[in-house]
Amino acid sequence: MSSLFVRGPARLRGFASLPSDKSVAHRALLLAGIATGTSRIRVRDLGGDNRSTLAAIEAMGIRTSCGASEIVVEGAGLRGLRAPGGALDAGNSGTTMRLLCGLLAGQAFAARIGGDASLTRRPMGRVVLPLRQMRARIEGREEGGDVRPPLVLEGLRPGERLRGIEHRSPIPSAQVKSALLLAGLYAEGQTLVAEPIVSRDHTERALRSMGAPIATFGASVGVDPEGWDGRLSPMDLDLPGDLSAAAFLLAATFATGSGPVVIDGVGVNPTRTGILDAFRDMGGRFTVVPKGDSGGEPVAEIHAQGGLVGGARVGGELFVRLVDEVPALVAAAATVDSVTEVRDAAELRVKESDRIALLVSLVRAFGLEAEELADGLRMRGGRTRPARVSSGGDHRIAMAAAVLGLVTEGETVVDDVACIGTSFPGFVATMRTLGADMEERS
Ligand code: S3P
Repeated sequence: MSSLFVRGPARLRGFASLPSDKSVAHRALLLAGIATGTSRIRVRDLGGDNRSTLAAIEAMGIRTSCGASEIVVEGAGLRGLRAPGGALDAGNSGTTMRLLCGLLAGQAFAARIGGDASLTRRPMGRVVLPLRQMRARIEGREEGGDVRPPLVLEGLRPGERLRGIEHRSPIPSAQVKSALLLAGLYAEGQTLVAEPIVSRDHTERALRSMGAPIATFGASVGVDPEGWDGRLSPMDLDLPGDLSAAAFLLAATFATGSGPVVIDGVGVNPTRTGILDAFRDMGGRFTVVPKGDSGGEPVAEIHAQGGLVGGARVGGELFVRLVDEVPALVAAAATVDSVTEVRDAAELRVKESDRIALLVSLVRAFGLEAEELADGLRMRGGRTRPARVSSGGDHRIAMAAAVLGLVTEGETVVDDVACIGTSFPGFVATMRTLGADMEERS
């Protein structure tokens, strides 16, 4: 097990680049696999989660070649996937499992999808139940009132097709929406997904750019293959950098009150930029310089400098737009002598870990006051003291702990940090380039 040794307080400055946006990369790889023709996807530092998706499409007969900075995917067409030789392994990635489930629901072959210990605990009923309504036969472990991995898909019988449904998702979830839209490509009639608040829309943007029959109506999105020739155009795409990774660099800059830090090529899709709004509300000083668009996704360069002056209040729509950034937000808020509250965030209990419980114990370990709420947390920043903590196997908890170490005078040790590679393989190297004193040892 490797540990991260962090010595603070840090002063950060310089240029940083990011790994490719994990969410966009999952969609690009899956959709390139069923496109008609060759896609070229330029990547930077693909993390473990995206590697699980890449391995899954390869296991279904899609030919790929991976260079240092480009993945070439020979798309086999909408009906070109083949039965995998063995179980598909989604690793730690909920997105891989849920999106694959949607893609596989409309196939004529059987498949099994498993994952690591964390993923095997996560709820899959949110995709399995609506997919069953579409006529997919999917089984999993029935446990705790939900369906848990591994998932087994029986495959459609000869002559059978999925049927489109209208699904009102009780929670905003891009994974649910995306799984149903992927299944909808194979269905008879329209598949419509309505969400209470619009979740990230990378799937819609990618499908639209590839010529799929997709339409958005407010917080609903539908796909209707009737009259469509079933061809998705291949992609030629520079993946944007991951704003979820940038959030930790920004959190570290603001928490240490340093900079300037300049991050290039950041994906700034407005369904993801809640963390920028929250940092702005907390008094964070940064500029976002637009740098065009890639595959329908806006990209920018971000310049940040200085500290924060107030706490954050997060809930509702803002929470949905920063769902993965709460660990970064909490770490940034640790130095602010005021209250930060996150509500409407019960979903955080079923991410890679129970992030509410782990974040509260993390900030307490650094000597701060924090309490768990059923749907979130409340904390107060202040003077931190060095700690020895564990990530609990969750990449974002590990990075939040590292940021807390950077603001704290003395040496902090974060155990179990190999998981950082699932989303930000170059995290430690990037931090060191910016001047952070941290090193990983096994
Ligand atoms: C993701 C959607 C979000 C997010 C996850 C990635 C995606 O989950 O938390 O890390 O790529 O679709 P939800 O489906 O719960 O919104």
